[in-house]
Amino acid sequence: MQRIIIAVDGYSSSGKSSMAKQLARTIGYRYVDSGAMYRAVTLYAMRNGMIDADGQVDTAAIVSALPMIEIDFKVDGERQLTTLNGEIVEDEIRQMAVSNNVSPVSAIPEVRHRLTALQKSFGIEKGIVMDGRDIGTTVFPDAELKIFVNASAETRARRRYRELLEKGVEANYEEVLANVVERDHIDETRAESPLRRADDAIDLDNSAMTIEEQNQWLLDRFEETVKRLPK
Ligand code: DC
Repeated sequence: MQRIIIAVDGYSSSGKSSMAKQLARTIGYRYVDSGAMYRAVTLYAMRNGMIDADGQVDTAAIVSALPMIEIDFKVDGERQLTTLNGEIVEDEIRQMAVSNNVSPVSAIPEVRHRLTALQKSFGIEKGIVMDGRDIGTTVFPDAELKIFVNASAETRARRRYRELLEKGVEANYEEVLANVVERDHIDETRAESPLRRADDAIDLDNSAMTIEEQNQWLLDRFEETVKRLPK
């Protein structure tokens, strides 16, 4: 069967990663979490004093460090573990401290160019589900299936808060909500490749859907798309 590229974009904590991951598992495709790559660059910058306690970002230092930053994924059973220069940083990149700094780092054009090139290289053989903010617009504008996921900021903050607690990460709901709203704003208004729905994307508002319903919805869209492909 012909393999395709599936781009799942949307707001932070909209549930796009879990549905993208589940679809990849069901159909035997590779899953790539592009947000994890921006988070890993942010972690590198934080560890190396390129972001101070007030969130001031030293853009020039990050840009010159880019050649020293290697990001990849290590497959561990059903999990994809993000690596930064060979070290597994999967848990660390999910901490609130990283979430609070990731938007300004991901607004740096040089960071975007480097990560976009890496993301494109993952898609060369197709058979990939990638989630993020600009996958359907910039990384894979020719993806055969594009989804744009949204849900209210409160729904997303509630999910994120629950997720953090389940992982044993200390969290405060108001702080999580403020982070969600602020990230939306920075992601939507940055000059370089802002969060934007691709014109040919299919919208999904999953505020009132269960996880099973959204997984099924996405699988249905995949099957429809594959059926329509020229033989
Ligand atoms: O999906 P996430 O919340 O883990 O993404 C973390 C941040 O990375 C998010 O605030 C915006 C940025 N990002 C991006 O700019 N482009 C992408 N393709 C994916 C994520």
